[in-house]
Amino acid sequence: MEFTEKVVLISGATGGMGAEIANQLSSKGAKLALFARREDKLAEISSKLGKNCDCVYQKCDVKNQDDVVRAVEFTNNSFGKIDCAILTAGVLVPNPIQRFDSKIIKDSMEINFMGNVYFIEQLLHIMKKQKSGTIAATSTLPDRRGVPGWGAYGASKAALSWLLESLRSEAKQRYNIDVITIKPGSVLTPMLEDYKRRGAITPEKAASLIIDGIMKGKKIIQFPFSQVALVRMTDAFPVNAYDNFDIDQQKGEGYPSVDEE
Ligand SMILES: NC(=O)c1ccc[n+]([C@@H]2O[C@H](COP(=O)([O-])OP(=O)(O)OC[C@H]3O[C@@H](n4cnc5c(N)ncnc54)[C@H](OP(=O)(O)O)[C@@H]3O)[C@@H](O)[C@H]2O)c1
Repeated sequence: MEFTEKVVLISGATGGMGAEIANQLSSKGAKLALFARREDKLAEISSKLGKNCDCVYQKCDVKNQDDVVRAVEFTNNSFGKIDCAILTAGVLVPNPIQRFDSKIIKDSMEINFMGNVYFIEQLLHIMKKQKSGTIAATSTLPDRRGVPGWGAYGASKAALSWLLESLRSEAKQRYNIDVITIKPGSVLTPMLEDYKRRGAITPEKAASLIIDGIMKGKKIIQFPFSQVALVRMTDAFPVNAYDNFDIDQQKGEGYPSVDEE
């Protein structure tokens, strides 16, 4: 897939990866529709992309299904088609066991999972008619094993990975729609501001790997290689092995220390 003249919808376009994907796609001649909650930041990004980039934007909170319906309509009305959607909107919120809180889990599910579900529903209406399109949504590299303290995030991303996997072959065979799972390891974006992760890569590198993966027609885009190898290895460990690993190390550097309720 080449991006010249292609219409690309990006959710989470104000974020570290989303904004950089927009930046790199603008120089490939794509027409962009950008969405996030911070409208001032969307305006700033869109004006930075310059006059040569055909770019529209609109405020969209992915927790609000009506916002997502409007976002997809707005893109289709602006450009007359949607070739590709790169869905990156997401939040990372720790949920320590000392204050187990269903609200955090619900919120993560609503943004990281249902936010993508709402987009996929609307995109399918359009792409089924087109009999073409690409939906690339962002999960996470460790989406198979629960990590202490990160259950809300992990559960929402695991749900998304499962959903995308279940859609992939049917979307392709019935409607010629490509469904791609993006599985980043650690990327140095605002999301990781408070956390230190060894081997983290820049948003520029992540965006170029994502764009390159879509252009090559990959079904799963996962990076960086060192973390992919590590996750594959740890996936194979027996479950009880983790009882002997230090909890704080499993949670990772920067995890907030929390008192008992
Ligand atoms: N950074 C990493 O190491 C890493 C690793 C694995 C997976 N990921 C995933 O990669 C994706 C991009 O992350 P990032 O690192 O670029 O994070 P980021 O810089 O924090 O950006 C997150 C983006 O999501 C948007 N967003 C958050 N809540 C939203 C809501 N309710 N409605 C609409 N937009 C919302 C934010 O925009 P507004 O605040 O303007 O709404 C922002 O544009 C996320 O799905 C993340 O979970 C990141």
